[in-house]
Amino acid sequence: MTIGVVIGESKPTEVTAQSSKPLSVGEYVIIDSQDGKILGLVEKSAISSEALTNVRNFDEAIESKEVAEINSRDKNYKVKIGILGFLDKLQKGHVIIPAVPPLPGTSVLEATQQDLAMIFGPASKEWIRIGALLRNASIEARININKIVSRHLAILAMTGMGKSNLVSLIAKHVASLNGTLVIFDYHNDYENLDVSKMNYMVAKINPRLLPADKLAEVIELRENADKQQRVLRESFTESVKQSKEFWATLEENVALFGRTTKGYADSASRVLDKIDDAKHRFSDILDPDCGDPVDLIKEGRVNILNIAELSERQANAGLSYYLQELLQQRKESVWERKGKATHKRSYKFLAPIFVIIEEAHVFIPKGEHTDTKYWASKVAREGRKFGIGLGVVSQRPRNIDPNVLSQMGSLAIMKIVQDDDQQQIASAAESLSKDLILQLSSLNIGDAVFIGQWVNLPSIVHIDEVKGKRSGSDLDAVSEWNQTDKFKDIAKETTQRLIQKDLLLD
Ligand SMILES: Nc1ncnc2c1ncn2[C@@H]1O[C@H](COP(=O)(O)OP(=O)(O)OP(=O)(O)O)[C@@H](O)[C@H]1O
Ligand SMILES: [Mg+2]
Repeated sequence: MTIGVVIGESKPTEVTAQSSKPLSVGEYVIIDSQDGKILGLVEKSAISSEALTNVRNFDEAIESKEVAEINSRDKNYKVKIGILGFLDKLQKGHVIIPAVPPLPGTSVLEATQQDLAMIFGPASKEWIRIGALLRNASIEARININKIVSRHLAILAMTGMGKSNLVSLIAKHVASLNGTLVIFDYHNDYENLDVSKMNYMVAKINPRLLPADKLAEVIELRENADKQQRVLRESFTESVKQSKEFWATLEENVALFGRTTKGYADSASRVLDKIDDAKHRFSDILDPDCGDPVDLIKEGRVNILNIAELSERQANAGLSYYLQELLQQRKESVWERKGKATHKRSYKFLAPIFVIIEEAHVFIPKGEHTDTKYWASKVAREGRKFGIGLGVVSQRPRNIDPNVLSQMGSLAIMKIVQDDDQQQIASAAESLSKDLILQLSSLNIGDAVFIGQWVNLPSIVHIDEVKGKRSGSDLDAVSEWNQTDKFKDIAKETTQRLIQKDLLLD
């Protein structure tokens, strides 16, 4: 069906059209050009009224409104259409932009199910359903999951816009494909995720396996407490690492160092306090007898590692350990398969793994070194060769390390209003046009722009909502306050009853 005509000046990358009805930004249309059908995306849409232009006062506005209503030619619907490529080539996965711009006068047609289905919802099994096109709602939107495992993914949006929902959806699909997923869950958002093959655990750190400076971080020695750092470094010997009684042996060594090294008695006693403190406060997490924490991760499962109880520095030490180990194990696995195994150590991950880091701006920050950042960039660079994919999730794209962000081959971007966040995304994603970036502030919950290698074309999608989970929903403060009042009343009544009883007994 013809819905418009190309007018004005055309370019190979964009045309202007006059349409017969208002078109939505983000809608796909077909430009029926002389060289074949071209797929276009409505990037700007404007409506104006002849009668209602240059209106000087209210009375004139009312009169003009009446004139406009009678005159069927009054409204002017103008759209800017970005050219995405020849339709038949896009359906085969190739982007070919026409060399000659469509002639003015070319018809603009409504895109049909048949035109779009092959592009946005290919049928092969690595394409998983994520939702439907936002403006062509009957068209299924799928993403290529192979591409995110090999070329990484960033999910960026303001808080509460549906990032964790998308992660949950990906998790469900990975589970149904028997894949291995690891989610570092900083806010305990995924405990109630309803997927088969879930392996939920509290992330552990085995202090025996850490280098001394990491142990210092984990037991929260101050970074600039040089003497305390030295005490720990000197005391954390091989015999401590091997000892059955890890903490006791470490404490003995620290005490001994304090007694025998001049000027170190106070520092040693501080370190002892810190060890004692860490041992009790973090007994669930810091576990010298848990073996290798990576062994808790199971192949073919959705592994949720709860890191909510960890302080930022501990979480950082934990995360970097996991990333380093997972990368190493994947390397061993690939080398073994290629007959180049070093046999230095064992590995258990036979197939690729996808690792998702929530709150990525905390662990992979801009302008600051963290170990997680070091290992995340290594995974981003080397992951493709060894089958380990990285997903970073954040509500503050401007604070994520731009290097790591630029290595994410695919992006899901939901509502973002802050200018500097939008700029950061624009520089990480060259294919994101200015007009699409402007769209980001007008998206609703669950709407996202998908760009990069996991889609054939940049798409604006409404993501399916994952039911049966409690991820990140806002607190209902009002009803909880209401409950508190009720509880207080009950408490008051009970206390009064008890007092009366007491008085009676007296
Ligand atoms: N695709 C969707 N369709 C409908 N509702 C959605 C969708 N995605 C998310 N929601 C709703 O929005 C709420 C918040 O979503 P979610 O927890 O995924 O956001 P978030 O971006 O991860 O937030 P935070 O930054 O706090 O982690 C969900 O509880 C859900 O009710
Ligand atoms: Mg979330």
